[in-house]
Amino acid sequence: MGFTCPNRLPALPALLFLGLFMFTVYVYSPSNQSNGSPAQQCPQPADAQPKFNLMEETYGNEWDKQSADKYLSPSYCTIEYANTFKLQQDHPCVIQLIRENYIGQPAPKNVPYQMDHPETIDPSDGQSKEILKILKNLTNGFFIECGGFDGEFLSNTLYMERSLDWTGLLVEADKKAYGQLTSRNRKAYTSPACLSTKPYPMEVVYNGTVGAYGAIIEEKIPQSHSLKGESNQIAPAKDTEHIYKMQCFPLYSLLLAIGRTQVDYFGLDVEGSEYKILETIPWHKVNIKTITAEWNHVPGGEAGLTRLMESNKYTKTGLISNYYTREVVYVRNSFLVYQ
Ligand SMILES: *[C@@H]1O[C@H](CO)[C@@H](O)[C@H](O)[C@H]1NC(C)=O
Ligand SMILES: *[C@@H]1O[C@H](CO)[C@@H](O)[C@H](O)[C@H]1NC(C)=O
Repeated sequence: MGFTCPNRLPALPALLFLGLFMFTVYVYSPSNQSNGSPAQQCPQPADAQPKFNLMEETYGNEWDKQSADKYLSPSYCTIEYANTFKLQQDHPCVIQLIRENYIGQPAPKNVPYQMDHPETIDPSDGQSKEILKILKNLTNGFFIECGGFDGEFLSNTLYMERSLDWTGLLVEADKKAYGQLTSRNRKAYTSPACLSTKPYPMEVVYNGTVGAYGAIIEEKIPQSHSLKGESNQIAPAKDTEHIYKMQCFPLYSLLLAIGRTQVDYFGLDVEGSEYKILETIPWHKVNIKTITAEWNHVPGGEAGLTRLMESNKYTKTGLISNYYTREVVYVRNSFLVYQ
């Protein structure tokens, strides 16, 4: 692989050098300020990550007054680089990588859908009814659905899109399901990725053995992080048809890549990573009115999830319990106030 820093030093020596440099700065600086500046050549592979891992937390509020080139050089902006250095959720390199490789455009409005059961008006298992009750049959809304699965089976958002002119973003990590999803001509962006469980891009091992129940089984440790000399204890298994490495991005990164931070409905059903995914979201940067989240595979269950969302200024307004579904509904407090 051998990704390099912009100065083309091999990554490891550069890191050691940077470490020494930072240490020296720390020891000799009278004020002990060693804040990263945009001029710094390599970001730190920080152990202590700032809360949301945003550019402003590392580079200050004025970071975007600089030209993007300052943070973006074609020689180093690769996915390996983004993963290894745990680049910020809103790092221009991360957004560029997503736009170039991980976003499918919505089908044009006049292209017909290709559904297995076109007669089924609303295939969702209760979610769309519940959300549209709260949103009073809103038209032209915007959704995020993860996983989007094949774009039809149990789709929470097909009714909104087809009958109420919504558009949105369908995120699906399962390779086979994503292939089907893109053949449906959904009028929404699609992304063949998973949502990060940490506030940076990361590679995971994904278990797609049982179609709709695909889940992340292991958070892969990038090899260049084995600086302590220990080999990866969980040797990443070779990719097989059902078990394979998958690239994840924070939800906020995907939203920036499609230029949309106002969201009417976010459906999150990823078989266990829901809590961690919700923890990565910088809630002060996005406006997500309603959420349904599966709770029955989450450690801490519905109570834990609800505590997290209450701390993010959401209110639990109900539960959806159907054959396929154990989900909890949250509505943003400010939306409840102003609706
Ligand atoms: C929303 O649409 C459904 C189905 O067409 C209808 O039964 C319901 O009364 C509508 N709700 C509102 C608030 O308009
Ligand atoms: C993948 O999922 C299937 C079905 O849930 C399970 O039987 C299998 O043990 C899992 N494989 C791994 C490597 O976790």
